[in-house]
Amino acid sequence: MAELLACLRGWHVELATAEIEALAPHTKFAAISPRLLASSSQLKTAELQQIITCSSGVQCFLDDYVSINLEHESVEELLEKATQMIRDAKFNGALAVRTLRIDGRINDFSTQSTAGKIGSIAVAEQFTIDLENPEFEIGLIADGGSNIVACGWLVGNFDDSIGTANRRATERPFFRPISLDPRLARLAVNLACGPIDEQAVLDPMTGTGGFAVEAVMMGRRCIAVDMNQAMVDGTTQNIAWALQGQPAKNDYLVVTGDACELPETIENSWHGQISGIVLDPPYGRNSHGSKSHYDLISKTLQSARAIISEDAKLVLIVPIIPDKNDTGEIELLHGQWDELNQLLSDCGTTIIGRWKEHVHGSLSRLILLASIAPLD
Ligand SMILES: C[S@@+](CC[C@H](N)C(=O)[O-])C[C@H]1O[C@@H](n2cnc3c(N)ncnc32)[C@H](O)[C@@H]1O
Repeated sequence: MAELLACLRGWHVELATAEIEALAPHTKFAAISPRLLASSSQLKTAELQQIITCSSGVQCFLDDYVSINLEHESVEELLEKATQMIRDAKFNGALAVRTLRIDGRINDFSTQSTAGKIGSIAVAEQFTIDLENPEFEIGLIADGGSNIVACGWLVGNFDDSIGTANRRATERPFFRPISLDPRLARLAVNLACGPIDEQAVLDPMTGTGGFAVEAVMMGRRCIAVDMNQAMVDGTTQNIAWALQGQPAKNDYLVVTGDACELPETIENSWHGQISGIVLDPPYGRNSHGSKSHYDLISKTLQSARAIISEDAKLVLIVPIIPDKNDTGEIELLHGQWDELNQLLSDCGTTIIGRWKEHVHGSLSRLILLASIAPLD
C-alpha cells in the first residue's frame, strides 16, 4: 500500500510529533526514526499542503515514499524501489529531485550522486528535468541518526529560509522580551485547536500577540485579550503587519479586558465557539496586580470555561527550572508543581501531554496540553 512519510523539523521533535497528530487527528503515524513518521493513511495533496502551511514542526511530506536502511540495504535497492515508484506515478512532466540531510551525515553515502541517479531514472521514464520551475518534485532524505534514506513525491519543501522556522518575534513592529518565539506560539495554537475549522482560539493574556499573530496568519478565528491597553494596541499593530495589507481570512477580535472576566469582556457572538485556549500568564513581579500566580490562572480558566465549546483544549506555558540531570521532575520557577497540578484539575482540565523546552541555562518552559470542560 502506498505510504506517506512526514519529516519533522529538528527543533523539538516530541512537540512536532504532537503537533502533526493534532493537525491530522484521524491519521496514524509511526516513527521510523525520531524525525521520520510513516503512515499508511491516504491524505489528499491539498490536506498535506494545509498541514505544511500551518504547522510549525512539520518540514515536508514524501508521498508514496520508498526507503532503505543503509545498515542492511544498498543504494541499488533504493534505486530499484525508486524506479518502481516513478513508474507507478500517474503523472508526467517537468521534475526536480531535491535533497535533505537530517541529523548528520551517513558515511559513504552521497545524497547528490543518488539524486542524480534518481533524476536519470525519471528521464528514462519520460520525465524532463527542470530545477527552476518543476511541476513535480522528488524528495530524497538521508537521516544520519538512523541510516535511513527515503525518497518520495515531495509535498512542501526543504528550504528553511522561508516559513515559520525563519521568523523572529523581534522583526515585528511591537516587540517585548515577553514575546513568544513564533514557532512555539504557532505550535501551541495548533496543539490547542487541531485542524483549522470554524472554531476560534482564545488568547486571554495576549501581550504582544505571539499566539494571536500566528492564529490570524493561519486563517483561524481568534480572540486576543489583554488588560493592558498598550499590549492591545501593539497586538493590533503586529497582526496588521503580519497580514501585509491583505484582509484576514477569518474574523478576529483584539480586546482590552480582564482575563478573569472573559464572559463580560468578549462579545456574546463568540461564546460557545472557542475550541482552544492558549495561555502564557505573566510571572514577573507587579505584572498582575494583587492576584497571585495561581489565583490568576485559576480565575482565567474558570472564566474561560463559561464561554468555551465542548471538547475544548488548553495549552498552558509556564517557566520551569531546567532539569539538567533529566530526572523527569518538574520544578516550577514560581510555586510547586503539585499545587499547579491540583489547581488545573480543580479547573476541569485533564492533562493530555507535557513537554519541556529549553530557553537558556537557567530557564526552561513547561508546555502543558489538557482538555478543559465547559461549565455546565
Ligand atoms: C507573559 S505575557 C504574554 C506574552 C505573549 N504570549 C507574547 O507573545 O507577547 C502576559 C500578559 O498577560 C497580561 N495580563 C496580566 N494579567 C491579566 C489579566 N488579568 N487579564 C488580561 N491580561 C492580563 C499582561 O498585561 C501581559 O501582557
